[in-house]
Amino acid sequence: MSSLPASSRPGHKVLLGISAGIAAYKSAMLARLLKQAGCEVRVVMTEGAQAFITPLTLQALTGEPVRTSLLDPEAEAGMGHIELARWADTILIAPATADLMARLAAGMADDLLTTLCLASQSRKVMAPAMNQAMWSHPATQRNAARLAEDGWRLLGPASGDQACGDVGPGRMLEPEAILEALLALFQAPEAAGLAVTITAGPTREPLDPVRYLSNHSSGKMGYALAEAAAELGARVTLISGPVSLPCPAGVERLEVETAVEMHEAAQRLAPESDLFIGCAAVADYRAESAAEHKIKKVEGEEELVLRLVKNPDIIAAVAALPTEHRPLVVGFAAETRDLATYARDKLARKGLDMIVANDVSREGLGFGSDHNAALLLWRSGDGGVDQESLDPQPKREMAGAVIRRALACLARPPSR
Ligand code: PMT
Repeated sequence: MSSLPASSRPGHKVLLGISAGIAAYKSAMLARLLKQAGCEVRVVMTEGAQAFITPLTLQALTGEPVRTSLLDPEAEAGMGHIELARWADTILIAPATADLMARLAAGMADDLLTTLCLASQSRKVMAPAMNQAMWSHPATQRNAARLAEDGWRLLGPASGDQACGDVGPGRMLEPEAILEALLALFQAPEAAGLAVTITAGPTREPLDPVRYLSNHSSGKMGYALAEAAAELGARVTLISGPVSLPCPAGVERLEVETAVEMHEAAQRLAPESDLFIGCAAVADYRAESAAEHKIKKVEGEEELVLRLVKNPDIIAAVAALPTEHRPLVVGFAAETRDLATYARDKLARKGLDMIVANDVSREGLGFGSDHNAALLLWRSGDGGVDQESLDPQPKREMAGAVIRRALACLARPPSR
C-alpha cells in the first residue's frame, strides 16, 4: 500500500479501536498501512483485545502510547479521553465484535472505547468480525441497522472460511480493503455515486386548451432537496411540474405537466435510482377527457359537470417495483391535522421507507413559502417506525436533514 499516490494521503487523524476478536492480529497490519498512507494513528484497545495482540506491538507500529483503560490517571494526565475523542477525525474499529456492536448500539460507555465513541462527533467506521451465526443472528442484524442509522459506516464483513472452522459471512475485511474503503470515504462526499430522483412542483391536469386543475406547490421544497442531494455528490434528476424556479446547479431536470407524464418519467427513472423522493403535489384526479376546444359558457345552464378519473399513484408504483429495481422510497405527506396518524397510514399504505409529513395549514410554512417544518417517520431496522421532528427552518436546511436521514436508511444492511 506504500504505492498509494501521494494525492490520496489524507493526513487524517485516525483513532483505531481494537476489540476482542481473533482478527485483531490483522489490526497491526492495518495500523501500519494507515501510517504508510499518511494518517496519524492512535490506538485504543478493549481489555479482551489484549488477549489477542499486545499494546506494545501497536505502540511500536504507531509510535504512540496505546490506551486501554478509562480509569488510568497516568494516561488521562496526557491526552484525556475527551481530548482524544475530539482529536480524531475518524474512529475506525477493526475488528468490531458482536459484543462491541451491541454495546455501541445501546449507547453504552462502559469502557474507554465505547466512551470515546459516544463522546466523539467524528466520522465513525467499523469492520465487523465474528462467527457467521453470530453475524446472522437477528440481534446483531438489529444492532448493525441501528449503528448505520446512528451514522456508523460498516465495512464488510466478508464471507469465507472462518478461524472457528465455519464458512460464511463474518470475516473481517482484509486490512488493504479497509484502508481502500476508508480513503474513498475521506475523499468522497456523503452521497457520491448515488443516483437520486426527485419529483417536485404541482401537476397540471388540462380541462380544455386554456384551463387546468392544479395546486399551490411552488416546487421550492423539491428543488431544495435536489440542491442538497447534488451538493452531497449525488447524481440528481428532478422530475418537475410547471414551476418558475431555475434548475439547481449540477441537477438534470425533466419537465412534465400532468400526473400521467410524471408517472411515466418516474417509472423510467426509478429502477435506475438508489433513492426516489416524491415531493410533488400530484393531482389525485384528472378530467376523464380534456375538451378539444375551449369550453363555452352555455346560456341558461347554471352548472357544469366535470367527470374526473383517478390519476396513478406515482410513489406507490415506485415502492411496488420488484426488490432488485426498487430504490429507497421517501414520500411526503401534506396534511392539515393529525400529522403523525395520517403520515403513518401513508407510510404503510403506499409501502414507503420514509415519509416527510408537513402541516400545510401552518402560517408561513409549506406551500409556496421559503420555510417548512416536518415530522420524519422511517422504518427502523427492527420492523418498527422511528421518528424525528424538524422545527420550522428554511427549506434548504430542512432538505439537508431529509437527505441525510434518507442516506442513513440507505446505508443500512440490505435487510430493509
Ligand atoms: O412546492 P412547495 O411550494 O415548496 O411546497 C412543498 C409541498 C407542501 C408541496 C411539499 O412539502 C409536500 O408536502 N409535497 C407532497 C404533497 C402531496 O401531494 O401530498 P399528499 O399527502 O397528497 O401525497 C402523499 C405522497 O404521495 C407524496 O409523496 C406525493 O408526491 C405522492 N403522490 C400523491 C398522489 C399521486 N397521485 N401520486 C403520488 O405520488
